[in-house]
Amino acid sequence: MQTRIFPATGQPVSEIGLGTWQLGGTEWGDVSDEQALATLSAAAEAGVSFFDTADIYGGGRSEQLIGRFLERTGRREQFFLATKLGRRPDPGWPENFTRAAVIRHTEDSLRRLGVECLDLTQTHCLPEAQLADGVVWETLRELQRAGKVRAFGASVETVAEGLNCLQIPGLSSLQIIFNVFRQKPLEQLLRLAAAQGVAIIVRLPLASGLLSGKLSPSTQFAPTDHRTFNRDGEKFNVGETFAGLELSRGLELVEDLRPFVPAGWAMSQWALRWCLDWPEVTTVIPGAKRPGQARENALASDLPAIASTDHERLRTWYRERVAENIRGKY
Ligand SMILES: NC(=O)c1ccc[n+]([C@@H]2O[C@H](COP(=O)([O-])OP(=O)(O)OC[C@H]3O[C@@H](n4cnc5c(N)ncnc54)[C@H](OP(=O)(O)O)[C@@H]3O)[C@@H](O)[C@H]2O)c1
Repeated sequence: MQTRIFPATGQPVSEIGLGTWQLGGTEWGDVSDEQALATLSAAAEAGVSFFDTADIYGGGRSEQLIGRFLERTGRREQFFLATKLGRRPDPGWPENFTRAAVIRHTEDSLRRLGVECLDLTQTHCLPEAQLADGVVWETLRELQRAGKVRAFGASVETVAEGLNCLQIPGLSSLQIIFNVFRQKPLEQLLRLAAAQGVAIIVRLPLASGLLSGKLSPSTQFAPTDHRTFNRDGEKFNVGETFAGLELSRGLELVEDLRPFVPAGWAMSQWALRWCLDWPEVTTVIPGAKRPGQARENALASDLPAIASTDHERLRTWYRERVAENIRGKY
């Protein structure tokens, strides 16, 4: 596993991290405690040191499971813990963005994770008014001075939000949707973030599993999986499910990509490699809910870069075949 430096704190982090939305067990179908803990262990054994979670995943369950995992291993310092805040129902929007709520939600995350300090906390796709308002950021700076968080960043839905967030003093990271279907950040966001020493954390690198190549029109998802209940944006931004692609269109586009995947590679590894080939990226956080997925994804770090000619063809393919199909905020 190769590492990259998280610029604001100088810590090395694994370039493949683990997204733990799945471990919440409420938006990806059921995941047992044993399965979740085994997935965290498998990731760690494969060299993953960056865990992305949020206070809202499973109502705190994802953080609690990471806390149990850390307690078991006794190696907290080995891991970079990134959580998020801002979407809890207690007290909900817009009261979540007051100083009192930001502090309380941070304290709750610290307690669930069983740590003294978060390596990173991220605002969790805040409404634009709150992104522009100073209260959340002032409070996060206060928490940083108090030693409760080492760094703070923003998880955003659109490239425009990401560009706006680069103006926020002290911002350390942007978490963005970036994959071979979602190439808009290449136009300027990656370059500008890197120039400012702002880390780029890549979510949805597999477009909710589409880029594993394993889905078909007959794939059935559990009723409690957002790929069932948010397929067309019924519950939250449609861009967070299948990266904004309508499933049948996404499945057609995956067929265009199969010839690019070298023999012996899983398509998911190729899709992760595509993200890693951009040096502005700090870490890529595929979600996994099984140990085998976490292991397979970690191996992408040691695969060779995709040929530059393929990257060029994929830029054209994106412009001509994909961009117009992306739904939702982008
Ligand atoms: N607003 C935000 O800030 C936000 C939003 C979304 C996600 N996130 C973060 O980003 C992380 C990643 O995004 P995501 O989980 O939505 O999407 P993703 O990483 O693109 O897709 C994850 C899904 O891909 C499939 N998968 C993973 N590894 C695989 C492998 N090796 N082979 C075959 N299939 C594989 C699994 O599907 P199956 O379950 O079908 O096996 C898994 O649930 C999340 O866990 C979360 O930490 C943040």
